[in-house]
Amino acid sequence: MLVLGIESSCDETGAAIVQDGKTILSNIVSSQIDIHRPYGGVVPELASRKHIETIYHIVGESLHEARVSLDQIGAVAVTKGPGLVGALLVGLSFAKALAYARNLPLLGVSHIEGHLLSIYLEEETPEFPYVALLVSGGHTALYHVSDFLHHSLMGRTRDDAAGEAFDKTAKMLGLGYPGGLTVSRLSRKGNPLRVNFPRALLDKDLYGFSFSGLKTAVANYIRSNINSEDTVPVEDICASFQEAVVDVLVQKTLKAALQQKVNSITVVGGVASNDRLREKLQCEANKEGLRVFIPRPEFCTDNAAMIATAGYHYWRNGQVSGLDLDPISRDRL
Ligand code: KG4
Ligand code: ZN
Repeated sequence: MLVLGIESSCDETGAAIVQDGKTILSNIVSSQIDIHRPYGGVVPELASRKHIETIYHIVGESLHEARVSLDQIGAVAVTKGPGLVGALLVGLSFAKALAYARNLPLLGVSHIEGHLLSIYLEEETPEFPYVALLVSGGHTALYHVSDFLHHSLMGRTRDDAAGEAFDKTAKMLGLGYPGGLTVSRLSRKGNPLRVNFPRALLDKDLYGFSFSGLKTAVANYIRSNINSEDTVPVEDICASFQEAVVDVLVQKTLKAALQQKVNSITVVGGVASNDRLREKLQCEANKEGLRVFIPRPEFCTDNAAMIATAGYHYWRNGQVSGLDLDPISRDRL
């Protein structure tokens, strides 16, 4: 079955055609970064307007690249949230109109489940049960996953998400928006041991996360560093910050996997494309005999292929939405 996936929860308009939740026939992503860059972050109203301008063309391109016609599509999957409501409404309205006109099942997909299922776009996949770390700009959470759509939340961030911490650090260092990738690139040339930033391990909240203290520590450090005679290079600040985030993510994920007695770990979401996180988790997991599965970077960041994959599993599970489907702004998973 061919599923057309549509994603418009934030600043990327995406459309993809995926067969049986696995084989990607096309995956088109149109980024709005250049529009939001001058403002240092996503401007919701501008995001919605750009989605409106782009969505028709992106869906057309996804069909063209997949070499399929609308007649061959079996269902339309669309992100219902969480995300920016105005942005979500564009994808939802488009998907609803298409499903109605073509009499196709409409599958309203949780963006979080989209990320969790993004691992199935890869050849090698973990066996159930496993522990999943979702790390993106909006979420940082650990899940115990026992089937495609069965997962229980083990812990989540109580303040900033890891990606948000990367973006805010980049902003404080004057590295522009979006900053995660820039911080990770600069980190390659930096010394991670130069600054000892705090690691919030939250002893009483074993699987919870907190990155706001780290953010404040970085802000204070930058302030004192500017006035110092012996200025520390930005690469060292980036590498030291990144190491602090990665240490916490790796330690907590390993602990969760060992406590749950699973054999595998997946890491999904935009921050899962971070090379230091990938490397360190792989290395530490090897020592414990655990296998690590992480999607290719293009499936870590927001994309519609993961929405089509999740949609396929919703459809198999009979989770079809009505045309009265509303967007959800907050995480209700
Ligand atoms: O999954 P995603 O595309 O969107 C959300 O659902 O939030 O994740 C975007 C987040 C941003 O905060 C971005 O800075 C971060 O992922 N990110 C990275 C890297 N690439 C993207 N953070 C650290 N290292 C990277 N290489
Ligand atoms: Zn996302």
